[in-house]
Amino acid sequence: FLFLSLLLFIETKHNHEEEEEVVNRSMFPDDFIFGVSTSAYQVEGAYLEDGKGLSNWDVFTHLPANTVRGQNGDVADDHYHLYMEDIDKLEYLGVNAYRLSISWSRILPRGRFGEVNPKGVLFYNNIIDNMLLKGIEPFVTINHFDIPQELEDRYGSWLSPQMQEDFVHFAKVCFEKFGDRVKKWVTINEPNIYTQFAYMYGTFSPMRCSLPFGNCSAGNSDLEPLIAAHNMLISHAKAVKLYREQFQPKQGGIVGLVANAFHYEPYTDDIFSYQAVERSYAFNVAWIFDPLIHGDYPPLMRKYVGNDLPKFSKQEKKLLKGSVDFLGVNHYTTFYAIDCFNSDECTLMDNRPNRGFVARAIARDGIPMGDQTGVSGFQVVPHGMEKVLNYFSMRYPNTSIYITENGYCPPNHLEGSEMLHDFKRIEFHKAYLAALANAMRKGAKVKGYFAWSFMDNYEWLKGYNTTFGLYYVDRRTMQRKARLSAKWYKDFIENAEKSS
Ligand code: NOJ
Repeated sequence: FLFLSLLLFIETKHNHEEEEEVVNRSMFPDDFIFGVSTSAYQVEGAYLEDGKGLSNWDVFTHLPANTVRGQNGDVADDHYHLYMEDIDKLEYLGVNAYRLSISWSRILPRGRFGEVNPKGVLFYNNIIDNMLLKGIEPFVTINHFDIPQELEDRYGSWLSPQMQEDFVHFAKVCFEKFGDRVKKWVTINEPNIYTQFAYMYGTFSPMRCSLPFGNCSAGNSDLEPLIAAHNMLISHAKAVKLYREQFQPKQGGIVGLVANAFHYEPYTDDIFSYQAVERSYAFNVAWIFDPLIHGDYPPLMRKYVGNDLPKFSKQEKKLLKGSVDFLGVNHYTTFYAIDCFNSDECTLMDNRPNRGFVARAIARDGIPMGDQTGVSGFQVVPHGMEKVLNYFSMRYPNTSIYITENGYCPPNHLEGSEMLHDFKRIEFHKAYLAALANAMRKGAKVKGYFAWSFMDNYEWLKGYNTTFGLYYVDRRTMQRKARLSAKWYKDFIENAEKSS
């Protein structure tokens, strides 16, 4: 009996070890950056303090029924007042860098139609200086979804080429005020997600859609996401030109752009699904990154959208080509791609004639790809990280990459102590980091990894029950508490024994 139970014990231990992802700090280069991410609107609060102007999100979230439970970022994590405490927590985590964004309407309450707000500048100076004192590098996103409402009211923000001048003006103020200390810049966060939500599904401000979806009452051109992204890309390129000419030589920093990149698996094992995968990548990822590296949209988009796809002038192409020092990749999950031209499983939204936006199935034969998370359709699929990076190695072989976001939110809002014991989140990060290490072994040029998010925060439409944080935030007291994942990440970064 003893012998048998010993065998059983060895066997179980063996199985357990096989299942466990082995990953530790030493699998990554010494100068690899480990960090955590947030964005201004999602954590700062203080939406009307110290001269800040209204942003599109301030206005949008105050209108009835636009967000879950009518929640908004008026207070968010009150990071505006608690930033010193938060920087202590970053120090505790031992992160090399912290990715934050700058609220446009805090710096320029009226865009280029008004003055710089000195108190806004002071706030970010305080954050940056105090981070640097603790040896934490600022990784700064200039625009993460929030824009001064005045730019929306005046000319429809990103739908107008006038926005290019506004963005360059804002970027210039940022380089001037913070560029002596900020050496890693992201111009714009996720133009692909932002434009699809704002101008295709119409769920983000300014709620424009071409087909009826949710609260959005359709009737706009379905070219709008393409036009808005076009203006964002040109804005980026112009800001980078300015940075490279006037700031980079003295300041010596680098600049990139962040896009969301899902991985897509073929839904069926035939040529149609493989082509659907190609189209999904083209219309969601290469749409944004091809212009920055190659100077134009992917040929597949041109094939499907034809002359309706906006065109870059010769000069714009020149500006765009090579306009990044790195690509920032937000990676969360993997979807199946279906060929909507040959399948009746697509919805009207998926199957926009000739637009190539391909349906995303979350399960094949009724079986989901991985565990469900708290964002509908997002499943835990670690190997997607490796595959998405293989795509980048093939398509943009010479460009460095930062994983600017990767993170987990539980399917149900957890209460009590369960909330702090987030074993699933630890497993998620371990498995995705292991996949990242594999991709790097195969040549992916990844230089850093940021967990989304440093702490629970305001999730755009869903509010406060969507919790991505390594830190839990008590909504009543604003107290932050380290979850087990925060402790795990700290140990991992320190390369402690138990991190493997
Ligand atoms: C990506 C966005 O950049 C971030 O703001 C958002 O909270 C996360 N995705 C999670 O949905």
